[in-house]
Amino acid sequence: MELDSLLSFNGVTLAIFVVLLVLLIRWFNQWPANIPPSPPGYPIVGHIPLMLKGKPQDIYRGLRPKYGDVFSLKLGRRLSVIINGSEALREAFIKQAEDFSDRPDIFLMSVLLKKKGIAASSGEHWKRTRTLALSTLRGFGFGKKSLEGRVLEEAEAFLSVIEKQNGTPYSATSIIQVMISNIICSIVFGERFDYDDNKFKKLLDMLEELGRLNPIAGVMNVIPWIRYLPGDIIGMKKFARLFQTIFDFIQEEIAEHKRTYDEDNLRDFIDAFLRQKSKHDLDDPVFDDFNIEASVLNLFVAGTGTTASTTQWAILFLLHHRDIQNKLRDEISTVVGSGRYPSLNDKPNMPFYEAFITEVIRKGNIAPLSVPHGATNDIQFRGMTIPKGSLITANLDSVLNDPDTFTDPDKFDPYRFLGEDGQLTGKEKSVMAFSLGRRVCLGESLARLELFLILTSLVQRFDLVPEDPDCLPTLLPVPGATLPQPYKFRALKRT
Ligand code: HEM
Repeated sequence: MELDSLLSFNGVTLAIFVVLLVLLIRWFNQWPANIPPSPPGYPIVGHIPLMLKGKPQDIYRGLRPKYGDVFSLKLGRRLSVIINGSEALREAFIKQAEDFSDRPDIFLMSVLLKKKGIAASSGEHWKRTRTLALSTLRGFGFGKKSLEGRVLEEAEAFLSVIEKQNGTPYSATSIIQVMISNIICSIVFGERFDYDDNKFKKLLDMLEELGRLNPIAGVMNVIPWIRYLPGDIIGMKKFARLFQTIFDFIQEEIAEHKRTYDEDNLRDFIDAFLRQKSKHDLDDPVFDDFNIEASVLNLFVAGTGTTASTTQWAILFLLHHRDIQNKLRDEISTVVGSGRYPSLNDKPNMPFYEAFITEVIRKGNIAPLSVPHGATNDIQFRGMTIPKGSLITANLDSVLNDPDTFTDPDKFDPYRFLGEDGQLTGKEKSVMAFSLGRRVCLGESLARLELFLILTSLVQRFDLVPEDPDCLPTLLPVPGATLPQPYKFRALKRT
């Protein structure tokens, strides 16, 4: 009798379990009928196991031939839509910009940045914040010729550190970071830091580590509850701690600006923002403290790592391709000579430099998947439905490494952008590394100015040779990141 009741109890339990499991699977698999095509996935976890197999851009390269320019992956209950190729990207991010310009509800944007600032906000709040930030930056030379002097000053400080090494093998990673960061710091905080300021260098190391831990943020986007588990299984708490330390630095800078603020002497971006705040309603969300802090953080973070990595890639490619380095130097000699620093006025006469830097940006591929976008409403696109809440990825890698546009895309070859007459053919415009549409990188003009002045003055003054000519530094990036692995080089002063 007892056995009977036990068996029947277990039978009921099993039946309930099966029903719940079926309901759960159905709930997880409930998507609108015409979402973008996707490969077969597992129940509940969907394509999470697929995404664990390698770098996302490599996985996407493999899926595109079969599933087309717009496909989707199910990451648990969240749909991730990947847009590939310049045609589909333009159609989405330019023609349908109203639908495709928002940020998604993910850990970094919603929890750490509270959907504030330039990079994490959406809708009207984002439009106002970005417009205000840009106009304030313009007041401090952004996008104007006057910025040139500031960048050159920093380039000179960098070159004098390089010169002091007297041609001995040297890893420039750390001073490149300080140099690039100093440029955005001088605009935003009105101050620069010494190249041997250990406190600042430590902060920049943290920033780099944050970049390397970025895949963790990816896990959090898909399994948000993982952060409530004890311990720090995926390193998320470390990520949040690093983020907070950098945020504390920004908050301290802003607090110091408030203490020493003088309306008649606006020193920098922060002062100008504080002045705007004093002219607006106290409860205007664009001027609330967190929105200002997050905007300053965005400029500091985005203005440091990206251009520093690109500079490191550029030097690495110059070490690997001495012929290209010599050709670049010939162009600098002809157009600029050796008696003065290159200037922006020279740039239109330097097509080989333009071809070289475009190829560095293409091959460096430092933001292959851009910054995540998100659907804040159901979106109809090319006859498909992208449901509200989906993650949207602008797969820039699909353009930068498209074999139909760039023959042999794995090869570093600046000549692909030049015609027989040595002039640019217009193909350089297809390198969409700064993204596109309304959210296109806000710092593109600054990044291009920095790269031009720093790299041309470096090549003008120094012959860059590898530490060991028989063993060139690797071209593989730091695993899981897009920056090059640390390397040393010799900079031999040219007479
Ligand atoms: C080689 C250097 C750089 C590259 C390749 C790069 C690339 C990008 C990309 C791909 C995005 C995402 C756009 C999107 O969401 O669709 C972005 C956004 C952004 N970048 Fe850059 N960037 C670079 C340098 C800079 C610099 C120097 C600054 C400094 C001011 C900067 C500030 C920003 C900001 C604030 C955003 C967010 C824009 C928004 O959400 O409205 N970037 N960048």
